[in-house]
Amino acid sequence: MERVTLRTIGVVGSGQMGRGIAQVAAQAGFDVLLHDQDPAALGAARTFIESSLKRQVEKGKLPEPVRAETLGRIRAVAEPGAFSTADFVIEAVSEDPAIKTRVFATLDAACRTGVILASNTSSISITKIASATRRPDRVVGMHFMNPVPVMELVEIVAGQATSEGTLETTRDLAKALGRTPVTAQDYPGFISNRVLMPMINEAVYALYEGVGGRDDIDTVLRLGMRHPMGPLALADFIGLDTCLAIMEILHQGFGDPKYRPCPLLRRMVDAGHLGRKSGRGFYEYDAGGEPR
Ligand code: 3HC
Repeated sequence: MERVTLRTIGVVGSGQMGRGIAQVAAQAGFDVLLHDQDPAALGAARTFIESSLKRQVEKGKLPEPVRAETLGRIRAVAEPGAFSTADFVIEAVSEDPAIKTRVFATLDAACRTGVILASNTSSISITKIASATRRPDRVVGMHFMNPVPVMELVEIVAGQATSEGTLETTRDLAKALGRTPVTAQDYPGFISNRVLMPMINEAVYALYEGVGGRDDIDTVLRLGMRHPMGPLALADFIGLDTCLAIMEILHQGFGDPKYRPCPLLRRMVDAGHLGRKSGRGFYEYDAGGEPR
């Protein structure tokens, strides 16, 4: 594959991850096309990025003219057809295989043939997503961590057909975005969630079985292992529905009972106690998502 200079990055999905990716790409000097099928979500993403950049100016970390230039590089687009000018596309829509495959089929039709299509999926098979396109060699995982502007890692996921050239270009892009890429093979959970989610699930089991209370469990990991957040606070931050969905994928994908989701995790999701986004999980949160 010939090396192309990437200038314009398309981002599909303007939720928490998509808007973070758009912000990081614009701050790194790329032109960004940000698409979402919901115009209200696009507007909300712009407001969020504006306030995030404003905070950086107030802290003296970003000169005012750079803030304005960065915002000027992000263009909201209502139709995926606008991606015909994109040099690289990153998808960050809902974590639903049916939605992802539909989006990839649309992107495959809208984008030039050489363009790489990356998915920010945290657990869906890249090989499966790639099979919805006519360019499986140019489909790759680009798994950013939340909060995107803060976390240095991008997990690059190689599907069955992903070419070495695609991996190389994607790693170069991650570096250009100021991130550190690590390559993982396309097996359930990749590296990140294969290791992280069983730890979170085990913390929920420890609570369920009464080994310790909520604060005891989180304090052990924060002060004993220097994790920035305890596993139960982190589960709330990620979303308990997301944690459960990833555990289900590990459980089904490996067929190994060691990945069975904790019944307490399932019960909390059934109750709608999803963590920060719903105002209640293992902790309680105010309307701004801050712990009470
Ligand atoms: N967007 C942008 N910047 C943010 C932010 C956000 N959502 N949240 C925090 N920040 C910035 C703050 O502005 C601050 O910046 P500064 O140092 O320049 O002033 C810095 O991050 C530290 O924030 P705070 O002082 O408010 O709070 P903390 O020091 O407690 O850090 C945290 C907050 C960065 C979230 C930290 O607790 C942390 O690293 N937690 C672990 C997060 C983690 O593990 N993420 C991965 C989740 S797994 C995942 O995403 C994969 C998926 O597939 C499940």
